[in-house]
Amino acid sequence: MSETKSMSDTVTLSVEDAVAVVLIDNPPVNALGLSVREGLVAAIEEIEGNTDIKAAIISAKGRTFPAGADIAEFDIGMREPWLPGVIDRIEACSKPMVAAIFGTALGGGLEVALGCHYRIAAASAKMGLPEVKLGLLPGAGGTQRLPRLVGAEAALQMMITGKPVKAALAEQMGLVDKVVADDALMAEAMAMAAAMMAKDGPLPRVSEKTEMVEKDRADAELFDRFKAEHGRLFRDVIAPDEILDSVKAAVNLPFREGMSVESANFNKLFTSDQSRALRHVFFAMRETSKVPGIGKDTPLIDVKSVGVIGAGTMGGGIAMNFANIGIPVTIVEVKQEALDRGLGVIRKNYENTARKGRLTDADVETRMGLLTGSLDMESLADVDLVIEAVFESMEIKEKVFSRLETICKPGAILASNTSFLDINHIATFTSRPEMVLGLHFFSPANVMPLLEVVRGDKSSDSVIATGMKLAGKIGKTPVLAGVCDGFIANRLMLPYMVASQEMLLAGTPMQVIDSAMRDYGFAMGPIALLDLIGLDVITFPGDMTLTGELVAMERRGQKLNGGFYDYDEKRRGTPAPAAHDVIEKVRRHRGIAGDVELTPEQVVAGLLYPVINEGAKILDEGIALRAGDIDVAAILGYNWPSYQGGPMCWADIHGLDKIVAGLEQMGIEPAAMLKKLAAEGGSFT
Ligand code: COA
Repeated sequence: MSETKSMSDTVTLSVEDAVAVVLIDNPPVNALGLSVREGLVAAIEEIEGNTDIKAAIISAKGRTFPAGADIAEFDIGMREPWLPGVIDRIEACSKPMVAAIFGTALGGGLEVALGCHYRIAAASAKMGLPEVKLGLLPGAGGTQRLPRLVGAEAALQMMITGKPVKAALAEQMGLVDKVVADDALMAEAMAMAAAMMAKDGPLPRVSEKTEMVEKDRADAELFDRFKAEHGRLFRDVIAPDEILDSVKAAVNLPFREGMSVESANFNKLFTSDQSRALRHVFFAMRETSKVPGIGKDTPLIDVKSVGVIGAGTMGGGIAMNFANIGIPVTIVEVKQEALDRGLGVIRKNYENTARKGRLTDADVETRMGLLTGSLDMESLADVDLVIEAVFESMEIKEKVFSRLETICKPGAILASNTSFLDINHIATFTSRPEMVLGLHFFSPANVMPLLEVVRGDKSSDSVIATGMKLAGKIGKTPVLAGVCDGFIANRLMLPYMVASQEMLLAGTPMQVIDSAMRDYGFAMGPIALLDLIGLDVITFPGDMTLTGELVAMERRGQKLNGGFYDYDEKRRGTPAPAAHDVIEKVRRHRGIAGDVELTPEQVVAGLLYPVINEGAKILDEGIALRAGDIDVAAILGYNWPSYQGGPMCWADIHGLDKIVAGLEQMGIEPAAMLKKLAAEGGSFT
């Protein structure tokens, strides 16, 4: 092999048996940042100019073939050479170019492979165009080359779902020419390059392929059919339509003209609010686990066994998370009956999953086998972590934690799943407050992806680091929260729920409120949400509340007799006459005329501005580390639509000055931080 030459800081080239091996080395995921693009251009020039080189392989060092454009570069402005041009040059190369794919070839990475003349993949590789998840489309020729290679329908499937395909399927689709064992990838790529340079005739350039698109052109219904079959993926978001439009261009126009359509559509999306929001969410989701002062050197506590106190809905769901990853759990209850019921519910949950084919019967038994019921807290003597999920009363927590104090081994982590009680106060019931923290799960705890890790004043760094790490292990995204009433997600959304009640009383019909929030992007509006979670679950302030009155009539929402809405057997709701009467009654009691009907836009402002205001306080008080953490908590805990970016990102896009003015008009004092940022022209995110 020739000596290895640097093409740039992140790209090297070496020559072996007349084959140039071009390796990208840009950890962690070999994103195609500026220096990679510059290196690829230099490599192509070397390959073209050096007569000793007859063919080339493009691959990477580290864990993966490039996983995409460098998303971090998007917001600071991308410099030339741009990726579409780099890929055109790879494709135009007069010598055979082979992509040797492993890991996750995503986005621009896959587009580089599509620019090569041959593609060979390791068996474990995955390939995808996930740009849609960032509100974008593949803008480096992906929308034009992929349909030419695999047909419009398969290309749309990949681009509009954003889901990667495994190597075996990629081979079946014609996306790659050959799949080989992982450890044989480079040797096989060398063999392929050698075979190709011995071959005469023109190189197979994807942009010149016509067979697939000609077939697609004959299928007049293709695009309408795809959209009809995948309607859900097009709802609310704008990128899928632009992808569809670009693929239409691939089918109907010459390659160059199609590239212009792709480029125009990409620019439209790139500058859209949705893409800005989704890019923010991408990084915010990855940032929540980073806690200043806690790093790789913070010692973690090994959690090999867990105790859960309380076998109710919460306790049961929490226990399942650990059984799912093979950690044994002891569940403690006071009464045998409650314990049996709790374990029965867990079994039923697992069996339901097995019925859907997502677990085998053996998995169900393995997991159930990891759960041990007990009526005696003494059985928690040896566990590494206890999570208390008992009734929300400080007296009961005191009883539990002062018992744990005497029972648990030194070094055990003592966690509370309280959703609003003071963790610092709870920690005083033990003589080891440094071992105490909050682990706040969202219901159903085995499903919801958010875990608020609540740091008490005395929680040790190790305990917090372990909590954050453990969240990832059980498949949750951790968000660190300080101690306050409601922590982040619940505290943030309480003003939303309160405002929805006031709005209803003031005269906006429930269906107008709910539909405005559905149009904003929530799966359901706040009134329907109350019916779903149960009217007896949230207590609103005031002596006569709508929910209180409905509960007094035994209307508890979907679970019992309907609530604000009446429900048919398919759970479709219509505004309930009984709720209408209750609204009238509360209006009379409180002297509200009920004649203020808001427009959908006013509903959104009326419900969300108070949330932003609360978010600003949460941030200012240091309850959340960053605005992005609040956004993640809202998205994962309350299904805030991610294409809106979460509350804080949405506020930035919407305009902080508008929000300050709106709050003042509503008679709500804007939070100091919100006012300051608005005045400075600053932003939360
Ligand atoms: N550009 C810039 N940074 C990227 C990146 C990209 N395309 N893809 C990943 N990263 C960063 C992440 O932010 C993270 O950084 P951090 O360690 O500082 O937090 C790091 O790479 C590792 O990513 P992570 O997602 O935590 O690792 P993973 O192993 O779970 O997943 C991927 C790896 C590649 C599957 C995943 O990161 C991914 O899907 N990336 C996006 C791919 C994409 O959308 N490409 C198209 C871009 S247009």
